[in-house]
Amino acid sequence: MKLNPALLFAIFPVILAAFALPSETGSRATADGAIARATRIPSSFRWNSTGALIAPKNDGRRVDGIKDPSVVFYDGRWHVFATTAVNGGWSMVHLTFTDWNQAGNAAFNYLDQSGIGSGYTAAPQVFYFAPQKLWYLVYQNNNAAYSTNPDINNPKGWTAAKTFYSRRPSIIDQNIGSGYWVDMWVICDASNCHLFSSDDNGHLYRSQTSLANFPNGFGEPVIAMRDTKERLFEASNVYRTEDGYLLLVEAIGTDGRRYFRSWTAAAIAGPWTALADTESNPFARANNVAFPNGQWTKDISHGEMLRSGYDQTLTISSCNIRYLYQGLSPTASGDYNRLPYRLALLTQNNSPC
Ligand SMILES: *[C@@H]1O[C@H](CO)[C@@H](O)[C@H](O)[C@H]1NC(C)=O
Repeated sequence: MKLNPALLFAIFPVILAAFALPSETGSRATADGAIARATRIPSSFRWNSTGALIAPKNDGRRVDGIKDPSVVFYDGRWHVFATTAVNGGWSMVHLTFTDWNQAGNAAFNYLDQSGIGSGYTAAPQVFYFAPQKLWYLVYQNNNAAYSTNPDINNPKGWTAAKTFYSRRPSIIDQNIGSGYWVDMWVICDASNCHLFSSDDNGHLYRSQTSLANFPNGFGEPVIAMRDTKERLFEASNVYRTEDGYLLLVEAIGTDGRRYFRSWTAAAIAGPWTALADTESNPFARANNVAFPNGQWTKDISHGEMLRSGYDQTLTISSCNIRYLYQGLSPTASGDYNRLPYRLALLTQNNSPC
């Protein structure tokens, strides 16, 4: 059969478009030539913030600030894990509620009453590790630590801390300068679990172990990203979206206020492509957050997404994103370890879906 030339002309642009697809639909070639798939997440964000929803209580513990939240929705209840600042030291707390408008009434379940015990622990991350049917709490205690619990509703059920490493990995010693090794974060794909951390000195680290070996076997970290200390400070989050991965890292702005930058990648190992990563186009910063009930904070600091699931894949929906963060009164001052941080919720204002 002979091809009708008119038909050929008609379908030629379609064929051309099919071949051109990777560079014509918003996917980006990265510096080393790899193609990162674009996610459906928009490349600019606007948010509404609530006022402070979770604050220290008058419960005899003399908590100055509540910080670094991690959150899951499981079996009809929100579960928030957070750091408490007490007398200049850090420890952790759990609270649970069914609706955000009741978050402020939830009792604080102090995790020093569990196997974790007292002493320095901070910056928890919670997820359910489905292969072992166990909840994991990942946190910092001068090392990268974790505890497990078969029942998230039992705050006394967390095991004593174990660490992913017997000592701080040497690559961190070599790069940390006068920083701190903080904000451990675990996310797993179908074959591996990855551990991210920061050094408050411009380095984001990543190491990995197999899903079958988790929580054992993490290898020597690599530097996943580097920048100035201020532009790549701490509090990284990595999530799986519908079609890729999203990385958030907290930065210190030129105004001294905290904000979040963002990147996407096709795989957890990167390479990461800038999404909204500047002060004028941030992921979340005071300049893209509206405060319908009054601006109670200029810092949008350490927090986490409200996920669409609760397992080790850390899956989120890129529609109508909500983000639980720490903020504080712009006039607060004094010892960093005693600052009166509180928790509030961002709701995406420009969701395209
Ligand atoms: C954000 O706040 C404005 C002003 O109160 C309101 O009109 C709008 O519906 C809010 N958007 C979302 C997504 O909550």
